[in-house]
Amino acid sequence: MIVAGNWKMNKTPSEAAAFVKELIPRVKGAKSEVVVAAPFVALPGVAEAARGTNIKVAAQNMHYEAKGAYTGEVSADMLKDAGADYVIIGHSERRQYFGETDETVNRKVQAATAAGLIPIVCVGESLAQREQGITPEVVRRQVKIALLGVSAETLLSSGLVIAYEPIWAIGTGKTATNEQANEVCHTIRMLLAELYGAEAAAKVSIQYGGSVTAANAKELFAMPDINGGLVGGASLKAADFEVIANA
Ligand code: 13P
Repeated sequence: MIVAGNWKMNKTPSEAAAFVKELIPRVKGAKSEVVVAAPFVALPGVAEAARGTNIKVAAQNMHYEAKGAYTGEVSADMLKDAGADYVIIGHSERRQYFGETDETVNRKVQAATAAGLIPIVCVGESLAQREQGITPEVVRRQVKIALLGVSAETLLSSGLVIAYEPIWAIGTGKTATNEQANEVCHTIRMLLAELYGAEAAAKVSIQYGGSVTAANAKELFAMPDINGGLVGGASLKAADFEVIANA
């Protein structure tokens, strides 16, 4: 089980560090892995505040090259050194607003695992795709390309996480039903079994994301193919995230 809060473009470095301090006592008994995904500039302070606790730190994006003339970009090694354990890759907002493609997601997954960062790879269909009945094809394609060239050994040793986030459920208050969410997570698990074998597939954490709240987290996380959540809005409030992390 892994519950990650994706703060998106929220919280200054000082607000972020103060928030982690507020979170520490609230999640210290959580049975799941607890992760907070902070903006780049907040990572060192968040990592410092979380040191010695059960809170792990994630970045929200990275570049796939190790270094060089890529103005404005941040490499996997830089994230590691700033204290990140995880990195979110291919969030739908990156795909929608910043030109992220399945191919760049794949390059980032390779660079992240090589650097020892745990990727949280995001996939999910749009409302139109769901209405057209092509959700399984869309998600299978996204996962398949994201994992091109990733060996079974790397898949497991990296701890790679897949987050299923239907775009129509993100920030809309329209959560997928438990069954809808589980069905697609199951589709992903079956694809992993095709690619890597059933034993490996069973070991990969698959999260659900999209309007997860303190009220619906427990039921979602109890579904057989859902191993936790990627939480946006509700992760910005300590009381809500506490309930979700302990669900
Ligand atoms: P919300 O929980 O705000 O719908 O956002 C989900 C998300 O995009 C997490 O990455």
